Amino acid sequence: MRCTVLITGSVFSRRSIPGDAKYDTEGVTAMGEQIRLDKCLAMLGIGSRSEVKQIIRRGQVRINGIVLSDPNQKLDAENSEIEVAGIPYTYKFERTVMLNKPAGVLTAARDRKQRTVMDLLPAMYTAMGCMPAGRLDKDTTGLLILTSNGALAHRLIDPNKEVGKTYEAVIDGLMSDMDITAFEQGITVQDADGTFEAKPARVCVMESGEGKSLVRLRIAEGKYHQVKRMFAMCGHTVLTLKRVAIGRLLLDPSLEPGAYRELTEDEYPLLEQEDKW
Ligand code: URA
Repeated sequence: MRCTVLITGSVFSRRSIPGDAKYDTEGVTAMGEQIRLDKCLAMLGIGSRSEVKQIIRRGQVRINGIVLSDPNQKLDAENSEIEVAGIPYTYKFERTVMLNKPAGVLTAARDRKQRTVMDLLPAMYTAMGCMPAGRLDKDTTGLLILTSNGALAHRLIDPNKEVGKTYEAVIDGLMSDMDITAFEQGITVQDADGTFEAKPARVCVMESGEGKSLVRLRIAEGKYHQVKRMFAMCGHTVLTLKRVAIGRLLLDPSLEPGAYRELTEDEYPLLEQEDKW
């Protein structure tokens, strides 16, 4: 069923690859596993291995209220109260965050010259093995999941799992009925970057006017520049692109561009469910 087309005269007020991510599981522990104190503190991003050894030897680390001064001491980090220089820390086996990616930042683990999404998170997340699960273009904004859980990342990226990604695109021109049907039936993308058959997409024109349209669409996979290339096949240029949901997990509207937060326990299942709209 098609959604309502709203024609307005308004100018939209909404405004919104290098360094490939590979899951580095070295140093990441299994749940409940005992790890060395120095490794635990380094993975919390408190400092390098040699820096945290000094902190430990200075007697600045309390575990469950007791000062530990041996860096080799092992502990069940997830179930311990960790305090360094009076500041409490929580060690979690897994970290998954949602980031409101701003424009102008690369989705990559690292880059020699440009700022990446990892630069927007505290060092602890890199130390814990967090990586972007999927990729948004440099100029694309919105919901990006970064996780230390490789299996979760693969599920979100795997085109066979068909986890829906919902975007809001401001495009030039108006979407015709033919364009909408093409999106719904599955567009064959054929351009300088290659050829692929896009799976049927859900599409809804939310506003049109002044030679622009705001279109909400959900795609089932995430090929290179997929949304821009699908619109290009219909003769439209994407002016701005924002991802607003993955599965049924919506971008938290309280997150300013560049801000992040960890997922709550209730939010994990939403990533696997279909966005209903
Ligand atoms: N499709 C695109 O064209 N770009 C993105 O960043 C995401 C989806």
